[in-house]
Amino acid sequence: MEGIGLVDGKFVELDEYVVPIEDRGHQLGDGVYEAVLVYGGKPFLVVEHMERIFKSASMIKIDIPYTLEELVKFHLQLVEKTGLKEALIYSQFTRGIAPRKHAFPQGIKPRLSMTIRPWTKLDPYLKANGAKAILVPDERWLKCNIKSLNLLGNVLAKQTAHENGCFEAIMYRDGFITEGANSNVFVIKDNVIHTAPTDNKILAGITRSTILKFAREFNYVVKEEAVTPDFILNADEVFLTGTTTEVMPVVSINNQKIGDGKVGPITRKLHDAYMNKIQRECYV
Ligand SMILES: Cc1ncc(COP(=O)(O)O)c(C=O)c1O
Repeated sequence: MEGIGLVDGKFVELDEYVVPIEDRGHQLGDGVYEAVLVYGGKPFLVVEHMERIFKSASMIKIDIPYTLEELVKFHLQLVEKTGLKEALIYSQFTRGIAPRKHAFPQGIKPRLSMTIRPWTKLDPYLKANGAKAILVPDERWLKCNIKSLNLLGNVLAKQTAHENGCFEAIMYRDGFITEGANSNVFVIKDNVIHTAPTDNKILAGITRSTILKFAREFNYVVKEEAVTPDFILNADEVFLTGTTTEVMPVVSINNQKIGDGKVGPITRKLHDAYMNKIQRECYV
């Protein structure tokens, strides 16, 4: 099964033309989204993701016309309908359909579209040996805490990474590291774990908060403080977190080795804790 779509509760084929030309998501990027990974047929941390889509929607004054339970149910329906065990479910709300103008039109209904697609696990070689990253200026707007459809800054950053043979672009703004194009960044120096605080400059990642919980349980010293590009280049360990990134060690930035250029022990321990949580919650 290749995958399937669900638009306002109705199943559609992935190649069906279902976006009306005047959907505000299509014309203005006026909407929010989420991505949930399915492991062993179970949508992982789906409640947390759906809580966040409510938050993102409320920050741009979209009133979601479903309950959290209904949104979770749509995820389960997509899994059941396709029988996919390892999959990515993408959901987006747009403000609705109306003749194009900037200010919010009155009386339109937000539109939900979802897709499920098979998901291939991350390259085990990269997981075992670590990935390369590149530093790029953060050229996005100043509401990066909203998971909005406007991703051009992230798209261009990721493209720079790909053109340079890197897994991720790590962004900096005003002299401090913010986050990756689609991941959060953790930096370890002298056994202290640093990650940028959850303000308007980063997305409060669900994987980020899961990892922070583990780090505190393991009694590591954690500082939710942004570090400089110079600090990250001289770190002992760096890793990325994200739904589709899981916990990805970074062993080189700007072609410069991080630490000894090998995956470090703290990264490995937090990575394993995260993968064990997936195992416990999804494969039992
Ligand atoms: C910009 C950005 N930061 C961080 C993340 C990681 O968030 P999460 O762990 O909730 O997937 C993402 C995920 O897509 C992202 O797009």
